[in-house]
Amino acid sequence: MFCDIHSHVIWGIDDGARSFDVTKALIRECVDDGIDTIITSPHVTPGKAEFKDDVYLEHLEQTREWIESEGIGLKLYTGAEILYTSQTERFIQERRVRDMAGSPCMLVEFMPDNSLHRITEAMRQIGNAGYTPIIAHVERYDCLNKIDRILELKDEFNCLIQVNAHTVTRRQGFFRRRFIEKLFKEGVVDFVATDTHDMPDRHPNMTQAYATLKELVGQEYADELMFENQRRLLLGE
Ligand SMILES: [Fe+2]
Repeated sequence: MFCDIHSHVIWGIDDGARSFDVTKALIRECVDDGIDTIITSPHVTPGKAEFKDDVYLEHLEQTREWIESEGIGLKLYTGAEILYTSQTERFIQERRVRDMAGSPCMLVEFMPDNSLHRITEAMRQIGNAGYTPIIAHVERYDCLNKIDRILELKDEFNCLIQVNAHTVTRRQGFFRRRFIEKLFKEGVVDFVATDTHDMPDRHPNMTQAYATLKELVGQEYADELMFENQRRLLLGE
């Protein structure tokens, strides 16, 4: 029932799964966690590391075949998580970056210490290229530690906001916890996603995050965060 829009389950292309066996194990965990749809989002880092698109598509196809042969009820889509570098604008203009499952959305991440000016410029450039930016794990950026700044970006650029499921469930200090809760209570967030890697704190935990969010903001918004907004994205709404 959950749709995960941020996942590094496909092996051999980034710091996510390291082998096909790890991909298989992570996918079984995703399904056990109630995920039935994944937009795979390998790291694309323009100008830093070459992205092997052919390897990605080949591994994705092998994974789909395995899923079908095992009778697993899971849909996989293509996508990417694009790091905003000095070369990203050129990549976007040359249409060298992948959208999300054919929708006009683009999952974009920044370095944690990037400035508000840089993030604002990125939103402008991505929007001008005809995409709707989705800011990946918004909780990670120093300059976006104030709700008003995120709301201003949303107002000006119609960008969407993703928070990691682990951020919802992890134990954290009082002020950090209060900030994260405020993000949800004020309706700033559009998507919760796993950012699955084969790392101890990056395994899928949508079920737990969903329970926490239902308690925090109620069923209706929790549904939007975990699968309704994702469904709209896939339908191109
Ligand atoms: Fe990621």
